[in-house]
Amino acid sequence: MTAASPLQNDRFLRALRREPVDRTPVWLMRQAGRYLPEYRATRAAAGSFLGMAKNPELACEVTLQPLRRFPLDAAILFSDILTVPDAMGLGLYFVEGEGPKFERPVRTHEDIAKLAVPDMDRELRYVTDAVRTIRRELAGSVPLIGFSGSPWTLACYMIEGGGSDNFSKVKSLALNDPAAMHRLLDVVTDAVIAYLDAQRQAGAQALQVFDTWGGVLSPSMYREFSLRYLTRIAQSLPRGDDNTPLILFGKGNGAYLEELAATGAEGVGIDWTVGLGDAARRTGGKIALQGNLDPVTLYAQPDAIRREVGRALDDYATGNGGSREGHVFNLGHGMSPDMSPDHVAALVQAVHELSAR
Ligand code: CP3
Repeated sequence: MTAASPLQNDRFLRALRREPVDRTPVWLMRQAGRYLPEYRATRAAAGSFLGMAKNPELACEVTLQPLRRFPLDAAILFSDILTVPDAMGLGLYFVEGEGPKFERPVRTHEDIAKLAVPDMDRELRYVTDAVRTIRRELAGSVPLIGFSGSPWTLACYMIEGGGSDNFSKVKSLALNDPAAMHRLLDVVTDAVIAYLDAQRQAGAQALQVFDTWGGVLSPSMYREFSLRYLTRIAQSLPRGDDNTPLILFGKGNGAYLEELAATGAEGVGIDWTVGLGDAARRTGGKIALQGNLDPVTLYAQPDAIRREVGRALDDYATGNGGSREGHVFNLGHGMSPDMSPDHVAALVQAVHELSAR
């Protein structure tokens, strides 16, 4: 365990417990990334994204970069969801402009039978080392979020071999051979639980699961191939003495909020296609909600950003019985490389000013 400095800003953790806070906490998905010139400089010096993510000192540096600029209420570990399948032997690499790819995608029953939970202390040591380094450098300023991909989302990349327009390979496997799909999802779920647990033990103070591609499934397939495994994670992931909260983020999860609120997770992250007020009414105070400004709002001018932030804050409060408690402000999905740091500053300032109690 990391030598614990007392936490100076615990707004984010308090909001996840639905406790009163002085302002609504805010962090942004992909808050570390190419929109920051200092990130591009570190990446150029490291030579590649993976070279940076696998080096705990550099991963720590880029994790801290957005916090030096903006008064964000949480840090998120700089890494990637695809470290887990990489550690399972699939061979992750990145092609400039094409995104992530695997040298050895999962295609056959034999490929599935060979999959095993990686040894966290060996194959993913660089991730827990980064967590320990970041906790030390944060020195209790804000909490650190660890994360993993959801089993379904990881399976999408493992079977497609990279990104996909229509997910034909992974959906075909689920439809033609559901037993094989469940064998794969089972071992990936075990790996995700071990991975999140290792991050928590190394010092992560909250954990988020990114179900980026759950929303591409029909409702019956979502429940069978994504929600079932999110539920297993929420039920069996150890939370430790500090009751480390778990957030389930899903793009396109708006139809399933009641079910997600019943999984046992502490928070649900939503995208901008569902209103925060409706989401709060439907989940009835059972969980904290995180989100959900359309990331494209960051291309608008600061006065429009401020207006939309105010709208989201007030929408949440209206649906939550007039109270702002239980809301973590975020985007509905990640930032893009061509967004302006000045607009991020305007967003963070607007959240803190407009939500001050
Ligand atoms: O939020 C943060 O600041 C933490 C870092 C983080 C990254 N990836 C860094 C990254 C997180 C939480 C992720 C998660 C991730 N990775 C997801 C789920 C989140 C989501 O967006 O829904 C997914 C689907 C991936 C897979 C992945 N990794 C993609 C699609 C890409 C983009 C490829 C590209 O060229 O745009 C990556 C690479 C990646 N991961 C980058 C960053 C900052 C860009 C790499 C670079 O510097 O070139």
